[in-house]
Amino acid sequence: MLNKVDVIARILAEKSRDICLEKGAVYAPANIALCKYWGKRDAQLNLPVTPSLSISLAEKGSHFAFEVIDADKDRLTLNGKTVTEDNDFYQRLFSFINLFRGVKAFPCLHVRINSTIPIAAGLASSASGFASVVKGLDALYGWQLTRSELSILARLGSGSACRSLWSGFVEWQQGIRDDGMDSLGIPLKTIWPQLRIGLWIISSEKKTISSREAMAITKQTSPFYTLWPQQVASDLAEIKTALTHKDFISLGEASERNALFMHETMLMATPSITYNTPQSIECRKQIWQLRRDHLPVYFTQDAGPNLKVLFLEENTRDVLQLFPQMEIIQPFAK
Ligand code: DP6
Repeated sequence: MLNKVDVIARILAEKSRDICLEKGAVYAPANIALCKYWGKRDAQLNLPVTPSLSISLAEKGSHFAFEVIDADKDRLTLNGKTVTEDNDFYQRLFSFINLFRGVKAFPCLHVRINSTIPIAAGLASSASGFASVVKGLDALYGWQLTRSELSILARLGSGSACRSLWSGFVEWQQGIRDDGMDSLGIPLKTIWPQLRIGLWIISSEKKTISSREAMAITKQTSPFYTLWPQQVASDLAEIKTALTHKDFISLGEASERNALFMHETMLMATPSITYNTPQSIECRKQIWQLRRDHLPVYFTQDAGPNLKVLFLEENTRDVLQLFPQMEIIQPFAK
C-alpha cells in the first residue's frame, strides 16, 4: 500500500525542496458538489468510490499567503487571528505541509489564510484550503507543476480539494490505479453565466462529526451504501447531459436528488448520522413549496445544515425578495 509521501515523491521526483520564493500569495476557490463524493476506496490517499462533479464558487474561497521567517516554529494566522500549535486546524495544516518539506532542515513559515467562507460549516472550506496550500507550496519551491499534478497533491489533503484547482464545472474522475495518479479533477467546457448559487447559511457552527468520519461510517454500515455507486452513475450522467443542453430543470433535479440520497444513506448508518436541524428541514420544504408555486429553485446540501440554492439569473429578483439575507454567487462572473 502506498502512502502520501510515496505519491508526493513520485510527483516531485527531481524537483527541488529548496525555497525559491521567500514570500507569496495564491488563491483557490471553494467548490460545491452537484454530484457528491461520499466514501473512499483508499482512506490514506483519499481515493473515492465514485466520480463526482462540482461547481467552483468564484470569489468565495481561500487566500493563502506564505512568508519564510526566522523562528523556531511555524506560525499561522487564520482570518486575522493567531492560531496556536495545540489547535486541530494548525496541526492538520502543518502536518500536510511537512509532507512536502523533504528531509533537510527547513525554514519556518508564517502562513496567513483568509477564508471568504465560514470555516467548517459544510461550505467546502477545506477544499479551497488544501488547494490553496498546494498552489502556495508550488510557488514557494518554484516547482511549476501542472494543475493536474496539483489536483492529485491537493486530494491528499482533502478529497474534494482536487476539484478546487479550476473555476467552473469540474469532474473528479475516481480512477482505478492504486497510486491514484488517475484520480484527479478534470475541468469541463460548459460555461453557464446565467447560473446562480445562493448560500442559505443556517449555522456557521463547527459540525459535530467530520465528513471524513461520517463517510467512513456510512460506507461500513449503511445498507443503502451498496446503492450509492449506481445512483452516482445515473445522477452524474444526467447532470452532464443537462450541462451540455443547458437544461436547468434537469440539472436541479439530479443535483437535489443526489444530495438527498447522500443524506438518506448516512441516516441509515449505525450509528445514524444527520447534519439536519429542524431549520434545515423547514428550508428544504420551503424550496419544494416554491417549486410547486412555479419558481425553479433547487438545493444541494453537504456535510452541514446549510443549503446551497441553485437558480437562474432571471429569477434573482424573486429569490432575493423571498430571501433578502441570501448571499448570491455568480460562478461565472468575470
Ligand atoms: C459532502 O473532501 O471534506 O462535501 O477527503 O475526508 O477530506 P476528505 O473529505 P471531504 O468530503 C467532502 C464531502 C462533501 C461532498 C463533496 O464535496 O463531494
